[in-house]
Amino acid sequence: MPASNAANVRSIKIVIVGAGSVGVTTAYALLLSGLAAEIVLIDIDTNRALGEAIDMSHAAHYAQARVRVGDSYDDCAGATAVIVTAGVNQKPGQTRMDLVKTNYGLFKSIIPQIAAAAPDTILIIATNPVDVLTHAALKLSGFPVERVIGSGTAMDTTRFRHELGKQFGVNPRNVHAVIIGEHGDSQLPVWSLASIAGMRLRDYAAQKGIPYDQEVMDGCSQRTKDAAYEIIQRKGKTNYGVASVLVSILEPIITDGDALVTVSRVGTYAGVDDVALSMPCKLNRAGAHQDVPLLLDEKEKELLKQSAESIKEVLRACE
Ligand SMILES: NC(=O)c1ccc[n+]([C@@H]2O[C@H](COP(=O)([O-])OP(=O)(O)OC[C@H]3O[C@@H](n4cnc5c(N)ncnc54)[C@H](O)[C@@H]3O)[C@@H](O)[C@H]2O)c1
Repeated sequence: MPASNAANVRSIKIVIVGAGSVGVTTAYALLLSGLAAEIVLIDIDTNRALGEAIDMSHAAHYAQARVRVGDSYDDCAGATAVIVTAGVNQKPGQTRMDLVKTNYGLFKSIIPQIAAAAPDTILIIATNPVDVLTHAALKLSGFPVERVIGSGTAMDTTRFRHELGKQFGVNPRNVHAVIIGEHGDSQLPVWSLASIAGMRLRDYAAQKGIPYDQEVMDGCSQRTKDAAYEIIQRKGKTNYGVASVLVSILEPIITDGDALVTVSRVGTYAGVDDVALSMPCKLNRAGAHQDVPLLLDEKEKELLKQSAESIKEVLRACE
């Protein structure tokens, strides 16, 4: 944590609604990051949430932050951000879209309560299907569009960079490549803009004397898309990756960092209006800003349109 942000952190309160697997792993990652002074867990299962908070408060001793359970949504008051992870998760074989009815109903009850208690906060949505629920959270909160952010394809972009980093033998942080669109089956890799060391992937491979094979590249994007299915098949849930991604979304919000992250936000995409999906956004204290339009090629524009339309179709069915 840079010293210039130390004073800021002392006043940072983050609320996590949903103290299940994603919620508590995020709370723990946030606690260890030193970015927040107070972390509040809210869950309908208050007893389990209290157990998590007591356990974490012993780790908090070393991290100099306070972890507690909120009694009601009034505890969201004064929060810099409220992360929503409440809801059912995928079972093996289910898509994220299969969760929509249950989690949409839950949002109708919780989002207005959060908005009433914390009218100036930033909502960060992780519950799936995250794009549909980011749209729902915007409508149900009445917040400005910048202040309702879905974790979106920030997770998929991280996985994609991990895959490409392995393929090219470089640290994933040195891979500039994004997954945009739906955090789900219609997501797309932006191959036309992917680069390492400022070079297109094909040029980087040529410079290194590595054969460039589009089929191998497609394998990287397919494994990215399938990663959650594989993890859920093996361990029943995903939690560590998403928790780190949620903290990486929070960091530029807390520090006013102007970081570019692929997150979900309501907007107009490839001619489809009023839909939430992921594109790179600038994140800072005021929320998520779409001032970095991507120069997509024609095929990518078409795939983005299909992704937007498939999310919109689900929105029409549940709103
Ligand atoms: N965006 C991502 O990248 C990503 C990654 C993993 C999981 N998820 C999603 O996150 C959500 C949570 O997943 P999980 O594995 O933590 O599930 P989980 O079952 O472990 O936790 C869900 C929690 O929500 C709580 N809850 C239910 N209704 C509530 C209400 N009305 N108010 C407050 N709390 C309530 C439950 O008691 C439970 O503790 C799922 O929708 C899952 O698909 C998103």
